[in-house]
Amino acid sequence: MNTHLIDPYCRVIDYLRLSVTDRCDFRCHYCMSEDMQFLPKRELLTLEELDRLCSTFIDLGVKKLRITGGEPLVRRDIMTFFRAMSRHLEAGTLKELTLTTNGSQLSRFARDLYAVGVRRVNVSLDTLDADKFTEITRRGKLSQVLKGIDEALRVGMQVKLNAVALKGFNEDELPQLTRWCAKHGTTLTWIEVMPMGDIGNEQRLGQYWSLDDVRRVYESDYVVTDLQERSGGPARYVRLEETGQKIGFITPLSHNFCESCNRVRLTCTGQLYMCLGQEDQTDLRTPLRNYPDTNAPLRAAIVAAIDRKPKGHDFDYSRQRVDGRVSRHMSHTGG
Ligand code: 5AD
Ligand code: SF4
Repeated sequence: MNTHLIDPYCRVIDYLRLSVTDRCDFRCHYCMSEDMQFLPKRELLTLEELDRLCSTFIDLGVKKLRITGGEPLVRRDIMTFFRAMSRHLEAGTLKELTLTTNGSQLSRFARDLYAVGVRRVNVSLDTLDADKFTEITRRGKLSQVLKGIDEALRVGMQVKLNAVALKGFNEDELPQLTRWCAKHGTTLTWIEVMPMGDIGNEQRLGQYWSLDDVRRVYESDYVVTDLQERSGGPARYVRLEETGQKIGFITPLSHNFCESCNRVRLTCTGQLYMCLGQEDQTDLRTPLRNYPDTNAPLRAAIVAAIDRKPKGHDFDYSRQRVDGRVSRHMSHTGG
């Protein structure tokens, strides 16, 4: 029991990011095309299968579980799954249950999520301008997301905001987004836009905005202090001394976080990706479905997969695409 998952580079893997659906009620320009084709529902793991999978990972030593999508809260009956996972929190084997959401359904779910033990939520929000919000998401309503954030804060959750940095789109909103986060006590994290999936050939809405530049903008207005804290992932944090607030920077293309990587990603169809930037994956749906009465083959498949976790990612010299693109969608692997 609680055999630790340790990869060939001695990294303890105790963080699982699970995508529960590839579906989303938004169609953000940098993520999907307007006519995104979603997987047929029969391809998806059932909630019972997701439970068996997560429970096996937890049994193997996973301490943190992040539910992602697509948009996790559009999956039918998703609260049944969250409720089931709360038993591992109560048992003390799971330390943290969180989710990443676009916030559209959060006002409905925040209270129930809190009740099953979710204490933190990451909300993706790129702009505070209602028209621009509808433009970038192609259909979202900003007021709905703001209502969701309010509700999450009201029930006592810690909220983090993730904004994709897009030159010519939310560049001019940096001061406003930053002040809004200070006021609401939320950490703002900027994410460098990644070339992922087929998002169509249309004109890109907003362009690559380097986080070095974002940082320089902060430095012109604030005293910026680097913080040492790391989450085992690609985020780096600074503190703005004038307000005391934390700002995060996620630069997925940089290599400097791989050595402390503690995570693996599981898709809604049961493929385990050992690294966000590599194509190598293991199918866990087969051992799951072929052996309904025993978890032994599933455990063996997980252990064997962790044994193949690569040292680092491959974005800049990608074997699969000349342009260093990862061909799958973020909504498939869950970012
Ligand atoms: N580049 C960077 N971030 C992306 N996300 C989705 N697609 C991309 C992309 N191409 C982000 C969402 C959300 C997180 C789960 O992934 O905005 O914050
Ligand atoms: Fe949905 Fe998030 Fe993709 Fe936007 S970025 S379409 S909210 S999954």
